[in-house]
Amino acid sequence: MNFHAIRQAYIDFFAKKGHAILPAASLIPENDPTTLFTSSGMQPLIPYLLGAPHPQGTRLVDSQKCFRSQDIEEVGDNRHTTFFEMLGNWSLGGYFKEEQIHWVFELVTGVLGLDPARLYVTCFRGNEDFGIPRDEVSAKLWQKIFADKHIDAPIIDFSERDGMGNGHIFYYDETKNWWSRSGVPSAMPEGEPGGPDTEMFWDFGVHFHNKWAEESPVALVRAGRKKQKCHVNCDCGRFMEIGNSVFMEYVKNKDGFEKLKQHNVDFGGGLERLAAAIEDCQDIFRIDIFAPLIKHIENLSGKQYGADQNESRSFRMILDHARAATFLIADGATPSNKDQGYFTRRLLRRAVFHAQKLGIASRCCGDLAELIIDSYGGVYPQLKERKESILEAMNQEEIKFGKALKLGLKELDNLENVGGIEKVSDGLLKTINRVDGVKAFFIHQSFGIPLEMIQERLSARGLLVDEAEFNNQVEAEKKKHQDISRAGAEKKFKGGLADHSDMSIKYHTATHLLHAALRKVLGESVEQRGSNITPERLRFDFSFSRKMTPEEIKATEDLVNGSIKRNYSVSWQIMTVDEAKNKKAIGLFEEKYGEKVKVYTVGDTEQVAKADFSAPTFSREFCGGPHVEFTGVIGHFKILKEEACSAGIRRIKAIAT
Ligand code: SER
Repeated sequence: MNFHAIRQAYIDFFAKKGHAILPAASLIPENDPTTLFTSSGMQPLIPYLLGAPHPQGTRLVDSQKCFRSQDIEEVGDNRHTTFFEMLGNWSLGGYFKEEQIHWVFELVTGVLGLDPARLYVTCFRGNEDFGIPRDEVSAKLWQKIFADKHIDAPIIDFSERDGMGNGHIFYYDETKNWWSRSGVPSAMPEGEPGGPDTEMFWDFGVHFHNKWAEESPVALVRAGRKKQKCHVNCDCGRFMEIGNSVFMEYVKNKDGFEKLKQHNVDFGGGLERLAAAIEDCQDIFRIDIFAPLIKHIENLSGKQYGADQNESRSFRMILDHARAATFLIADGATPSNKDQGYFTRRLLRRAVFHAQKLGIASRCCGDLAELIIDSYGGVYPQLKERKESILEAMNQEEIKFGKALKLGLKELDNLENVGGIEKVSDGLLKTINRVDGVKAFFIHQSFGIPLEMIQERLSARGLLVDEAEFNNQVEAEKKKHQDISRAGAEKKFKGGLADHSDMSIKYHTATHLLHAALRKVLGESVEQRGSNITPERLRFDFSFSRKMTPEEIKATEDLVNGSIKRNYSVSWQIMTVDEAKNKKAIGLFEEKYGEKVKVYTVGDTEQVAKADFSAPTFSREFCGGPHVEFTGVIGHFKILKEEACSAGIRRIKAIAT
């Protein structure tokens, strides 16, 4: 059964059991400003777990794409990915432990064909401090199910010291068998739902014990031990978690926990991990979905996946990062330097770095994206629909960064060992080989190469950058930027004027004429969104959803020039906000001005006197000034450029000669 067939089999199984099939939500959560990405299947369903009625009923099933940015550093081993699909089924106040445990067992053994003897499970030990009892119900259910398959499955209260013993079912504490978005019970904020869970593990075979740990001494050191007794939750590589049934029936309150209005089931199973178990291959990058991608990287690099540990690490990073970036861009996170797009950029840059490390001279992420879109396009049609823009965004980033990287790495290779001394502990010093942190920072800044890549490249020569020194530079640079933008803000305070030269003042009045003219030509929905004036030009941002036509630009210029020719007078009055609004003054900044505001009026002297505000470019706007007295001095007004500034905002640059 291949990857896509496993997904389908899972969905069909639960659909037959009365579950409504939900489409996957976007990787970029809607209406949830607390988090950048959808990182679990349950995330889009939180309101319903808390009790809101779901329009499709109480039984739901889906396969949800997830992105876990916090796992980016973990990618490179045999099991971690930043992007994955989580198979999910939910009971919203309906069935509970009995049905869920029977069904997932039937699914993984009966439908997906896993050998029950190689399946191990864990349950929640209970915690008196939180008043949550041991989940004996689940443990007993599992034991009975195993017994029905003639598998003796002792239940063991797990301890590191004793290891697994002859156990098949283990109790672990809340660090392993409790699920909430925020983690363990003590970390949960008030109002957050959570509950004990029961997890299934696949046993790849005892011969794998400590294999991964041997491959990666770092993993052992990080885990704080030299040797360990293997158990289902250890990271030696023998076991892999393939599914997690959360019995979400609690909500945190100010004193501890109380029961939710309804008891829920939230099952999450990593599709890639299930596929690895079904193919019985311990490396999830060996599952069928990655095969064409690996082939392509092998062809481009002349290297073989699996032949060398370090190279395999690079393969895995390229595979994961290219796939994650493809899905992220499809959901709107184009590479950029902020928000979600920052992660897309980081992924692509890391992929490019590792591609170059494997000796790939050409582009490769775009090619991989094409293969990914071909493979997943049937399940996620928006990948196909957005193919062109995905490939373009990827290629652009890859070309730009690829070039910078080549140059930057060359510079980096020229850096010399300046040596240094590091304090290990009191009275213990160690000499280190390091490069000048200021120079390394300069390379980082000029070529956009992240520190992690700089360190990795230097490590090949036994060198490093002193991170404290590097970070000092980053801080100094940040401060410089803050100072510049603070100075910018002070200038803006003068009504968007960089100075009070004659020309700037003329442009300021021209901006009012332009604002009024745009509303005449494009409609009253146009509103000022920003203004920046120098003695050389004006720049005006406004809300409008599309490009202006040449005719509209011309009509706007004509209106402004007409009002300049008529030599309108510019006058001001102080009035209350209400009065200003009654007189149809425009401007969005009333709240900053307090009760009384200054309002500038541009119009025919006679009309102004008659309070007739119907002239075509008549403008009345909240403003602090200063302005010219008569529009005739402005000169000939010309729009040089009309372009997009950000979503729904246009920008005009114009001059007066
Ligand atoms: N919410 C649980 C998880 O993410 C099960 O779906 O593991």
